[in-house]
Amino acid sequence: MKTYFQATQVNDRVYWVGAIDWSIRNFHGYATDRGSTYNAYLILADKVTLVDTVKAPFLEEMLVRIASVIDPRKIDYIISNHSEMDHSGCLPQAIQAVKPEKVFASVMGTKALQEHFHLDREISEVKDGESLSLGNLNLTFLETRMLHWPDSMVTYLAEDKLLFSQDAFGMHLASSERFADQIEDWILNYEAAKYYANILLPFSALVSKLLERVKGLGITIETIAPDHGPIWRKEVSRMPKLYATWAAQRPTNKAVVVYDTMWQSTALMARTIAEGLRAGGTMTKLMPLESCHRSEVVTEVLDAGALLVGSPTINNNMFPTVAGTLAYLKGLKPKNLMGTAFGSYGWSGEAVGQVMEVLAEMKIDLIGDGLKVKYVPDESVLAECFSLGSRVAEKLGKVSS
Ligand code: FEO
Repeated sequence: MKTYFQATQVNDRVYWVGAIDWSIRNFHGYATDRGSTYNAYLILADKVTLVDTVKAPFLEEMLVRIASVIDPRKIDYIISNHSEMDHSGCLPQAIQAVKPEKVFASVMGTKALQEHFHLDREISEVKDGESLSLGNLNLTFLETRMLHWPDSMVTYLAEDKLLFSQDAFGMHLASSERFADQIEDWILNYEAAKYYANILLPFSALVSKLLERVKGLGITIETIAPDHGPIWRKEVSRMPKLYATWAAQRPTNKAVVVYDTMWQSTALMARTIAEGLRAGGTMTKLMPLESCHRSEVVTEVLDAGALLVGSPTINNNMFPTVAGTLAYLKGLKPKNLMGTAFGSYGWSGEAVGQVMEVLAEMKIDLIGDGLKVKYVPDESVLAECFSLGSRVAEKLGKVSS
């Protein structure tokens, strides 16, 4: 490993020294179909500084990449922007290997790191807005509490106009390329949206406030170095602009129809509702849970205006896959949606009512009382399904941007 794993130069004195996780497909319940990276950055200042570390199993990869630039024992400071273990998991071992003079984290971060690792050394607190001299360079720390953990902060390297943005503006994307301008746009846009939807969506109001705050500070950012995925050295305004759009959650003329099925009746209802939506001019995503993961569903919901949920009734309850997806969606708090429920049943048919209750708890603007059918839909029920789709399309056309 020693010879072959190299750092990537970001500028004259900043290097990417992270790790690439080509195999991860489940990131605490989020389907990471393209793997991920855990980014750490080395700053060759008078005080040599490491910004963030990597997930525990990748310690050696990080140290070897650092060693391709400088002896890791020459590192003076380690900054921990975020204590979640994909960025701090190897911190205790990294401290042992590097023996830094100081380790810095936010006020909440110092507590969180101790609560994770029970370290026998002090972590130095840095406060919101505080600066740290590295001798010839200066770092400034901005707390970003609840974006997305209480300890989260970002670090700005003023002389290079470079923002170490921690999880923000990142994406789960393993690649040989380290810079966004080397990767196809459609992949970047999809994976960034998926990351926002699955991680940051519930904190959208804080995202909007933070973007305003950064604008108010008048700082120039020429490079964004996040903790996952590629580094932005060109078109740096793209991610902040997309974040502003996603945080606003303005409804668009797009509907997501998510469902599961036992004997294809609920599936047939879903497909017929989708025909009604499409005929009404609404862009429609049909998402059978047999083949779509819940993290893909919320990615599509991110810019949708309507959410229609189909579930058969099984043992007096909604289908387990639908229940799991709704629990996930509810936690992510999407806003400004209209929606309804539908499904087939055999005996008592509780599922549709249960789904409507969850949609109401999610503050979704309900359309109708839900549509249910005993066993198999006939032509008249399919006509109702089509009509339901048309009705949602008409309503959505009036409110969407
Ligand atoms: Fe990438 Fe919140 O850790």
